[in-house]
Amino acid sequence: MTADSSHRRWPRVPGIAFGADYNPEQWPEEVWAADVALMVEAGVSMVTVGVFSWALLEPSAGEYEFGWLDRVMDLLAEHHIGVDLATATASPPPWFSRRYPESLPVSREGHLLWPGARQAYCPSSPDYRAASANLASALANRYGAHPALVMWHVNNEYGCHTAECFCDVSARSFRAWLRARYGGLTRLNDAWGTAFWSQHYYDWDEIVPPRLTPTNGNPTQNLDWRRFCSDEFLDCFRAEREVLRAATPHIPITTNFMGPFKPIDYFGWALEEDVVSNDHYMLGADPASHVHLAMAADLMRSLGDGRPWILMEQSTSAVNWQPRNLAKAAGQLRRNSLQHVARGADAICFFQWRASRAGAEKFHSAMVPHAGTDSRVWREVKSLGADLKAIAEVAGSRVECDVAIVWDWPAWWAVELAAHPSVDVRYLALVTESYDALWRLGVTVDFVRPDADLSRYKLVVIPSLYLVSDHAAANLTSYVEGGGHLVCNFFSGIVDPDDAVRLGGYPGAFRQLLGVRVEEFYPLLESHSVALADGGTGRIWTELLELTGAEVVTTYVDGPLPGAPAITRHEVGRGIAYYVTTALDAATCDRLLLDLCGNASVRTHNNTNGPIISASGIETVRRRTDSASYLFVINHTDREVDVTATGEELLSRTAVTGSLKLGAGNVAVIREAAPPALPSRAGLG
Ligand code: GAL
Ligand code: ZN
Repeated sequence: MTADSSHRRWPRVPGIAFGADYNPEQWPEEVWAADVALMVEAGVSMVTVGVFSWALLEPSAGEYEFGWLDRVMDLLAEHHIGVDLATATASPPPWFSRRYPESLPVSREGHLLWPGARQAYCPSSPDYRAASANLASALANRYGAHPALVMWHVNNEYGCHTAECFCDVSARSFRAWLRARYGGLTRLNDAWGTAFWSQHYYDWDEIVPPRLTPTNGNPTQNLDWRRFCSDEFLDCFRAEREVLRAATPHIPITTNFMGPFKPIDYFGWALEEDVVSNDHYMLGADPASHVHLAMAADLMRSLGDGRPWILMEQSTSAVNWQPRNLAKAAGQLRRNSLQHVARGADAICFFQWRASRAGAEKFHSAMVPHAGTDSRVWREVKSLGADLKAIAEVAGSRVECDVAIVWDWPAWWAVELAAHPSVDVRYLALVTESYDALWRLGVTVDFVRPDADLSRYKLVVIPSLYLVSDHAAANLTSYVEGGGHLVCNFFSGIVDPDDAVRLGGYPGAFRQLLGVRVEEFYPLLESHSVALADGGTGRIWTELLELTGAEVVTTYVDGPLPGAPAITRHEVGRGIAYYVTTALDAATCDRLLLDLCGNASVRTHNNTNGPIISASGIETVRRRTDSASYLFVINHTDREVDVTATGEELLSRTAVTGSLKLGAGNVAVIREAAPPALPSRAGLG
C-alpha cells in the first residue's frame, strides 16, 4: 500500500460507525421511508446496500436497472446515512448461469454445484470475471459521485460456500499459476517430490487439480492448490478493485473477511484493500465463544497492522445456520459489540437491517426483528447506538499490545495435510489454546506473520509452525538473539515451503534456536495423556528430545518416554526460547505463560504490573492515542467486580476515583486520568 493511499483508510463516517446490510429490494417501497426514520432514531450512520442485488440490477446481460437503487441512495443521502455500496457480484443471477454453464463450480468429487442458493460461480471463469468487472464498473460510473457513497464493498465473503473449484477451467488456470511459480517442469517435479509413487510429469497438461484420488494425493500439489485457490479469488477481487479505483480513486475499498477462515490467506489479502472488515458470529455450542470473538477481533486488527477495522456483520440475536440457534441473552449484544470496539473496531454493523419475510435467512435476527420495534432486540439496538455515540472519541485510537502470536496460512494448510504423525494436530485448535490462556491472563495479543518485524513485542508465541521458510526462521531467531522471549510448540520448523522435511533432526529450522534435537515423534492415542513432573499433563504429542544447549524445565513422568524432557529453556543472545513438546492442559499452559509474561515484563491480570487485579471472566483492553488512553473493562461473569482505575467512565459519564464497581455483564470504558507509561520491551536495556 503506497503512502498516498492514506486518505482512503476510512469511510467518511464520524465516530464509531453503526449500521447494517440494508436490503430494501426485499420490501415494497412504502417500507423504505419507515426504514430510514428508524435508522435515524437508532443512530445508524452507514449501511451496506446491494450485496445480493445482481439479479435486480442487471436483469439481462449488459442491461442495467438502476432506478430503484437511485431512489434508495437518494433517500439515504437525504438522511445523512453513508452507503458502503456493494458490487453485488457474490451471487450471479440464474440467467447468467444458464447463459454461461461453464461458470458453475465443480466439487472435488466432480459434482456440479447448481444455481438456487448463492455463490454458484467458478472463480476462474472468464465469463464470471468479465461480467463482475462490468457490473462493478457500471455501479462506479453511476454512483461514484453520489453524496451517499462512502465505501465500496467488493463481492461478499469470498470463498464462504465455494472455496475451491475443480472444473476444467480451474484446472487450466492452476497450470498457468504453476508455470508462473516454477517456470519449468523440472523445478515442479523436484518441489512436488514426484519421484515418489510414479508421479513424474512430462507435460503440463498432465497436471490436474487435487481431485478425488484412490488414496492420499501428493502433499505439495495439495498445498499449492490451496495457495492457488486463495490467489484465484484474490484475482477476482483485484479485477473489481481496479475498475472501482480507476473511477473513484478517493473512495476506500473493502471486502468482508470471516475471521480465522482457512481457505483464504487474509494476510496477503489485507495488503490489497484499504480497510479490513470482518463478519463475526457467536457459536452457540462454544462455551468460550466470547473469547473467540476477541481472538477474531485481534486477528482483524493485526491484518491491518493495528489500524481500526470494520465489524461488517454480526447478529443482533440468533442466526439461522447452526443446528440450534441461540438467542443472545439480555445485555450480550452490548458486551459483544464493545469487545469488538475494545479490540480496534471503529464500526459496528449487522447482518441485516430488517429481518426477511422470505428466503433462506428469514429466521436470522436483524436490527428490526419480525416482532417490530416493540421488542427487546430493537430496544437493545437503540441503546447500543447511544453507547457508541458516548464513546465516539475512542475512534482512531490504537490497541496497546506487547505479546504476539505467530499466525501463518500456508503453515496451517501444510500442517493439516494427510498422512502426518497424528490427526490431532489441528492448527486452529492449537492457536486457540494459546490464545485462550493469554486471554485468561488478561494479555492482549497481536497476530503476526513469521517474517514480520517483531521488535515491538516482549513475548512471541508460536502455537504451531510446521512449515517455515529459512527467512522467517532467521527472523524469529534474530528476535530472540536481540532480547526477545519466545515460546514454541511441538511439530514446528519441520518442513520448507515446498513441504520437504528439513533433515538432521527435528525441529528442523528451530534446532539451533531451541537448543534441542529430536530423533523421533511419539504421538499419543486420542484418549491418552501424559503426566509431567511439574504436576501438569500433556495430550496429543510427545517426542524424544536430546539437549544441545537448552536446559530442562520439566520432564514426562509416564507415557512412551518417562524421564525425557517435556519443556525446555534456551538462552540465546540476550533472549530466551522455550520449547513445549506436548499439548499442555489449560492450567499448566496458564502457569507457563504467566511465568513467561513475568520474565518478559508483560502486564497480566495476575501480576503486579496489571491494570486491575480481578477474577477470571473479566476482559481488559487498552486503546490509546498520543494524548489519551481508554481502558475497556468487560465483565463476562454473573457477579460484580472491582476495577482499579481513575478517570471518567464514558458510557455512564461518571467520574472514577481509584476504583469502580462493575456489575455482572456490564462494560466500562474509562478515559484514564493519567495514561500509564508506554511499556518498553524487556531485554533491550
Ligand atoms: C454471512 C453473509 C450474510 C448472511 C450472514 C448470516 O456469511 O455474508 O449475507 O448470510 O452470514 O449470518
Ligand atoms: Zn472452476
